[in-house]
Parts: sequence; structure tokens; C-alpha cells
Amino acid sequence: MDLNIAVLSGDGIGPEVTNESVKVIDVISKKFDHKINISEGLTGAIAIDKKGNPYPDETHQICEKSDAVLFGAIGDPKYDNDPSAKVRPEQGLLEMRKKLGLYANLRPTIVFESLINNSPLKKDRIQNTDLIFVRELTGGIYFGKSGRKDNGNFAYDTCEYNRYEVERIAQLGFEMALKRKRKLCCVDKANVLESSRLWRETVQNMESRFPDVEVSYEFVDAVAMRLIQWPSEYDVLVTSNLFGDILTDEASVISGSMGLMPSASIGAKNALYEPIHGSYPQAAGKNIANPVGSILSLAMMFEYSFNLEKESNIIKQAVKNSLKEKITTQDISGNNKTYSTSDVGDFICNYINS
Ligand code: IPM
Ligand code: MN
Repeated sequence: MDLNIAVLSGDGIGPEVTNESVKVIDVISKKFDHKINISEGLTGAIAIDKKGNPYPDETHQICEKSDAVLFGAIGDPKYDNDPSAKVRPEQGLLEMRKKLGLYANLRPTIVFESLINNSPLKKDRIQNTDLIFVRELTGGIYFGKSGRKDNGNFAYDTCEYNRYEVERIAQLGFEMALKRKRKLCCVDKANVLESSRLWRETVQNMESRFPDVEVSYEFVDAVAMRLIQWPSEYDVLVTSNLFGDILTDEASVISGSMGLMPSASIGAKNALYEPIHGSYPQAAGKNIANPVGSILSLAMMFEYSFNLEKESNIIKQAVKNSLKEKITTQDISGNNKTYSTSDVGDFICNYINS
């Protein structure tokens, strides 16, 4: 196949981990005889430094022309404690999601048997956990009306959803459930919020079209609790932008390392794949960051954007094997030998090649 991938490695550890995925792309293209073109673009703090804009037009063009985008990380501590900064790296990510129409964020949480002791949670609670969040990504409080009044002494952000937006994301949640354990949980705060009542009503109206899916409705505060009590009970969780943001960080802890988890942001025309760990500036440039989150994001790209399951599966298998053989970076190596970012990438590439 002829494939065009845009690579935006971004800030912090983004470039290092993305580089390992690019190595994997190279190995996959040779092994399976694909012609894969890579175009690189600037985004994040580095794009602000070089172009004065965290998501420059040139980068948007590159993404639009691509079949899929591989993204590293965004963010720089120099912006974090400066509420008056006019442009911030995170705006680039939000603009990219909006402009590319990436309305659905898929964030799986899987417990790898070989790493089960790395989790801060008890083994019997997390065994067999395999859940996925379907987070709405281009609406809600992230994009509703916001501002200041009264000389800056009053601030507001508004959670806004229309029925179409909820239906679109719920549809994906239902379809996802059909391919998995056929359970869908709608996470909301319908006892308090009007927008949540629209969510619940919309999902309820769709139930009859998916008779094979068992649907449950839970309040977000209860889910925050049950997610760490009994994570293996869940299959697909569909929720709004902000609730999804918070719960997916919580869920990432279950697996033992945030460095392992991938994500996909899907739109009608394009999709973006990124590890969920963020820029982790303390580790940048040291060749110590875990590249697995990025490499598993690439596996999601082969599955969702290209429908190339063999390619996706061999990448996942290579990662599983690296974990089993304890070829791991410092975040999960524990008492075993610690390997560098590039060592882990090399091991995974070699496995795919063998
Ligand atoms: C995420 C991040 C972003 C979000 C930030 C960086 C804007 O936390 O992808 O979860 O809040 O969506
Ligand atoms: Mn987040």
C-alpha cells in the first residue's frame, strides 16, 4: 500500500519516543512491502519558538494531506506557571483536534500479565482488565463559551453539547462494544447537569438499534471510584471531553506505567495517534523515556486508519515480547536491568524482523 504519515514529534520526550516509532515504520514497510512516505511538521512549544504559533499553517497542510498523523507530545514547563502567556503549546493540540475534526479519542487500558506487579493496585483487582474509553474530543467545556467579566474578577467556562455530537460519539462507542465484550457504560453527571441529561437521553434512544450491547449509565464520581475498585468489570466507556480527560489519566495508573498507553483521535477524514504520557520534560534528551506508548499508538494507526491487522498485531506482539523479556526502560524496569529508549526500540524492530 501507499501510505502518507505526518509525523509531529513536538516537545519534551516527544522526538525521542517518536523516533523509535519511525524505526518501526521503516521495518514494517520493508517486511510487508508498503511504500510509506513520512512528512514532518512542527507543533507545540518548539513551533512557538520557531514560528510564533503552536500549530502553524504549514503543519496543518501536512496533516490534511496525510492519511494519518503520528504525534509525540506537547508542552513546556516555561508556560505552565505563567497564566498570562498569550500563546501556549496546548492551544496547538486543541486547534489541531478542532481543525482536523478529531471528535473521538480512544484510550485503552490494558493490564499486561508480565507487568501486573508494577501496578499500585492489587493484582486480584486488576487481572483481566481490558477497557477502552471513548472520549468526546471537539466539544463540551473545552470548546464552549468562556471568558471573564467584572474587570477579570469573574470567570466562566460552559459545557455545551448538541444531540448530533453526542450521537456521533455514542455510535462509535456502540460499534466498539460490538467488536469487544458488548458492554457500554455511559459516564455522565445527569443528576446535576443538563448537558449530561442530553447525553443520557441520546444514548437511551440509541439502545434499541444495538440490542446485543448491554448498556449501563453511571455518574462520573461513581466511575472514578469503581474504576480503581473493579476495573475489569468495564468494557467500553463513552463520555464527554472533560470527564474523559480526568478518568483516562486515572485509568492509566491501573496498568502500572503511563509510558505504556497509546491513544487514537479519530475524525471523519483523518486520525491522530499519540502516547498518552505527555512531554515529561525532566526526561527529555536523556534516552530514558519509554517508547512503548508511541509504538502501540502506531499499532493503533495500522489497525484503525489502514485496516492492516497483521502489521498492527506484529507490533503489539513485539511489544508484549519486550515486556516479557524485561527489555524495559527505567519507569518499569524495577530490579531488572534498565534499557534505554533506543535499546527498547531496537529490540522491538528486531523482533518484527525475525
Ligand atoms: C490530553 C491532555 C490535553 C487535554 C491538554 C494538553 C490540552 O491533557 O490529551 O488529555 O486536556 O485534552
Ligand atoms: Mn489529559
